[in-house]
Parts: sequence; structure tokens; C-alpha cells
Amino acid sequence: MAAAPQETTPDTSAPVWTRVAVIGAGAMGAQIAGVIALSGREVALADTARDALDRAGTTLRGRWDSRVAKGAMTAAERDAAYGRITFSDNVSDAVSDVDLVIEAVVEKLDVKRDLFSQVDGAARPGTVISSNSSSFVPSSMAEAIADPTRFLGLHFFNPALVMKCVEVIAGPQTDPQLMSDGTRFVEQIGKEPVVLRKEINGFVANRILNAVRDEAIYLLEGGYASVTDIDRACRTALGYPMGPFELMDLTGVDIGYLTKKARYAASGDPKDAPSRTVSGLFDTGQLGRKSGRGFYVYDDKGVKQGENTDRPGASD
Ligand SMILES: NC(=O)c1ccc[n+]([C@@H]2O[C@H](COP(=O)([O-])OP(=O)(O)OC[C@H]3O[C@@H](n4cnc5c(N)ncnc54)[C@H](O)[C@@H]3O)[C@@H](O)[C@H]2O)c1
Repeated sequence: MAAAPQETTPDTSAPVWTRVAVIGAGAMGAQIAGVIALSGREVALADTARDALDRAGTTLRGRWDSRVAKGAMTAAERDAAYGRITFSDNVSDAVSDVDLVIEAVVEKLDVKRDLFSQVDGAARPGTVISSNSSSFVPSSMAEAIADPTRFLGLHFFNPALVMKCVEVIAGPQTDPQLMSDGTRFVEQIGKEPVVLRKEINGFVANRILNAVRDEAIYLLEGGYASVTDIDRACRTALGYPMGPFELMDLTGVDIGYLTKKARYAASGDPKDAPSRTVSGLFDTGQLGRKSGRGFYVYDDKGVKQGENTDRPGASD
């Protein structure tokens, strides 16, 4: 008697999307390409600016050289990972024979849309197209390609070589199979996927971060507690590695201000507008560590000296 046909179990260990192109070789793209190369995949890193590609190569080599020096990686592993990266100033060539494209160019919707239609014309049919955008939802970009079911968000965190989280974001038209492949891909490159079943501005991690920031500002502006004590509560009671004001100074007050401004422009909800403290700091060029002064004051080595008592509203 012939044996009954057996159901085959899908091989979940089979690599998903083995050839990848990352477009944009800036702060994020360079390290995303590094993560993918470390997972054993071939990756084309493309940028229209040759100097960005040169910087990306130097940054990756520098980071991996110091890992080799610390014994965290062998010289052979470093060379193999580096050898899997192709640097290209021609986006169409870079995407012509890949399974996945990850866009990490400047945060401007019109630039991204133009790029996606270029990529759509140059890539093989069926190529998965994704964006690392931190503020644009997939539906706002997917309409630039012919088949929006092939589009998803893959949001890495800075620095991408270190941070474990990658948000995998479904647009309204994203193929559910793409979401499960995307989740598996993220696991296979050594990251922790956070799946957004529906798109929402800010995604998960940054929304929670913003809610904490908003509450910290509310407590500060209401005169309930000082910058130092609010940060101290987050560190010593909640186990945060740093408080919300320390983090805003680290990432840049300008980034926080511009993100809020963009969100307010999109929603029209006054709750989304930048606070008067953050606006005041931005307007007076007190942008955090990079300008030596923000919620705190820093010396020229970047060491925190104490609260900024000249902060707008500090004497209210
Ligand atoms: N910086 C962060 O902390 C962070 C974190 C998560 C997500 N993101 C997102 O990642 C994306 C990139 O951010 P970044 O900080 O790496 O920016 P960046 O300014 O450091 O780099 C952007 C790069 O894109 C290149 N570029 C611009 N237009 C291009 C085009 N049409 N084709 C090819 N290359 C082009 C530029 O030459 C530049 O090298 C943005 O969408 C941003 O929102 C940034």
C-alpha cells in the first residue's frame, strides 16, 4: 500500500531574504548594512553621496576593528562580514537582484516616494520593499510602488549594531505572509521583532518614550519636581538607564522639538505640539549635549555639571 502523503513542516530555519540592499549610508543605513552582513547575508549599501559611502565603510571597519581588539570577534569574522558588503553609488544597480530593499534615506516623504518609484522600476518583480522611517507610516509610502502588498516598515533603533529592537510594521495592504517573513528575518539577523499589526504614527517604542517625556515635562512645568529629581525617579524607581531629560539632552532637543512639530502638523491636536520648555530651549539654541547646554549644563568634555538654571521657564 502506498504511504499516505505526509504534511511537510515548514523549515523555519531556512534563511529569509538572503540578498539585501540598504539605500542610504548615513547614521542608520551603514549600521543596518553591518547587522545584515554579520548575519551572513550579502548586502549592497547604496547612497547617492560617495563621501557617505566612504564614511560608512570607515565607521564599520573602525567598530569591528575595536571588537577584534577586545576579543569580541575574530579578524576572519570581521573580514568576512566586510567582504559581504558592496558599496554602490548607483541605487538602481544595487536593487536589481535582491530579495529585500531597506530604505534609510533622509526623513523627507517626497524624497522617499521618488526613491520607491525608482526602486520599483529597477528591482525584480516580487522584491520586498521596506522603510526604516521613524515617522512615516507604510501606507504613506507604499502607494509609490505598483504592488503595495510587497511593502512593510522595518524600523531599527540607533545605534542599529547595538539596539536589539526592530519594529515590523504592517500597512493596510501589506501581505500577511510578508509580516511573518519579516518577523523571521528580524530574528535571523539577531534582533528582537516588535510586530505592529496596524500602522500608527510613532509606532510602539517612540510612542511610549513620548508619553514618558510628556509626563516628565508636565511635572516639570507644573512645578512638581526638578529636572534632576524626575530623572532620578525614572532611574531609581523604574529602572530606566537614564531619565527622560538626560535622554533628550543626549539625542538632541532639536530632534524632540522637530518630531513633535511634525506630529502636531499631522494631527492638529494641541497635545502633540512641542512644550513651551522644549520650544524655548530650541529657540535659544540650547540643544543638549551637542551645544553644551539643554536641560543640564555640560563641560567641554561632555561631563554633566548640573541643571541648567538659565533654561526657559526655570524661574517660573
Ligand atoms: N538617526 C536616528 O536616530 C534614526 C533612528 C531610527 C530611524 N531613523 C530613520 O532612518 C532614516 C535615515 O536616517 P539617518 O539618521 O541615517 O539619516 P542620515 O542623514 O544620517 O543619512 C541619510 C543618507 O541618505 C542619503 N540619501 C538621501 N537621498 C538619497 C537618495 N535619493 N538615494 C540614495 N541615498 C540618499 C544621504 O546622502 C545620506 O547619506 C530616516 O528615515 C530616519 O527617520 C533614524
